[in-house]
Amino acid sequence: MNYIGSKYKLIEFIKSTIYSVVGNDIQSKVFCDLFAGTGIVARSFKKEVKHIISNDIEYYSYVLNKNYIGNHLHLPGKEDFINYLNNIELKEGFIFNNYCLGGGCNRQYFSDFNGKKIDAIRLKINEFIKNKEINKNMYYFLLSSLLESADKVANTASVYGAYLKKLKKTAQKNIILESAEYIVNENEHIVYNEDSNELIKKIEGDILYLDPPYNTRQYGANYHILNTIAKYDDFEPIGKTGLRKYYKSKYCSKNTIEETFNDLIKNANFKYIFLSYNNEGLMPVNKIRTIMSKYGNYDYYEKSYLRFRADKEENRNHKANYTKEFIHILEKK
Ligand SMILES: C[S@@+](CC[C@H](N)C(=O)[O-])C[C@H]1O[C@@H](n2cnc3c(N)ncnc32)[C@H](O)[C@@H]1O
Repeated sequence: MNYIGSKYKLIEFIKSTIYSVVGNDIQSKVFCDLFAGTGIVARSFKKEVKHIISNDIEYYSYVLNKNYIGNHLHLPGKEDFINYLNNIELKEGFIFNNYCLGGGCNRQYFSDFNGKKIDAIRLKINEFIKNKEINKNMYYFLLSSLLESADKVANTASVYGAYLKKLKKTAQKNIILESAEYIVNENEHIVYNEDSNELIKKIEGDILYLDPPYNTRQYGANYHILNTIAKYDDFEPIGKTGLRKYYKSKYCSKNTIEETFNDLIKNANFKYIFLSYNNEGLMPVNKIRTIMSKYGNYDYYEKSYLRFRADKEENRNHKANYTKEFIHILEKK
């Protein structure tokens, strides 16, 4: 998924930094990904540590992580369910009625076909769980598969803050439900859907990886459609984009971020803390250093990183294509 702040391209940098600080023997360690997003960071440690704690305040992210992190054993028959859902009859439901032109709402986040297919699949997943035809693990696997597959045919430039007037090429394609494959391993992991600063008081471990939002773009607003597909609840969509009520993170505001971050570091019961943040974030580098240094031995690594793909048409106007990505490191006293 093309996600704001995704660390997909930075995984090697993050992993080599963590290993160089903590050492190679992390098999007995508890690793926490407190702002998990797509879950890509914890996924890359899933087989390497004893236990993962994953968390994100957004429900769609919780669903993805319940699958990618929480699911760790084989789910027999999962491909049969995917095949069945791929061949299901279309249905006009909440997504078609509120986010497709044919539904009469004047919004076009999906083609009419895809809106109806998303509705049909989503409703069937609800029916499966209600009738006990699937367990919770299968539920999150199927729902993750739907979120990822719907995202591929969304008619947006990248996020869901707005839709495009005309259906773009990828949005014209008919949705295909693809399996959201997860890593199978013996160890059990736990996934939360809580505010980071509340959860931190209840957990402990060895390695805490922090990747909070670094600017004012609220994830709940930018990915509202994914929350709506994931929750599939009834509400009155607001305004031109059909927004739902969304959570406003204190990490997205200049007024609240420093105090919130300080509070998080202070309450963290982890030996090592790693913070990903770039040089254009709301908190300046020296402020981060000041806060983290209060609680132990501080250091940082940095890397220049290509922000936009320059070969993509929508990125041609961006002159500064490089940004600096930092990993701030704290060994807590
Ligand atoms: C930069 S993204 C994380 C990206 C992730 N590392 C990845 O590679 O996909 C920041 C995440 O923090 C979450 N978030 C924002 N405020 C939060 C809070 N107070 N508690 C927990 N999660 C929060 C957002 O929903 C978003 O998924």
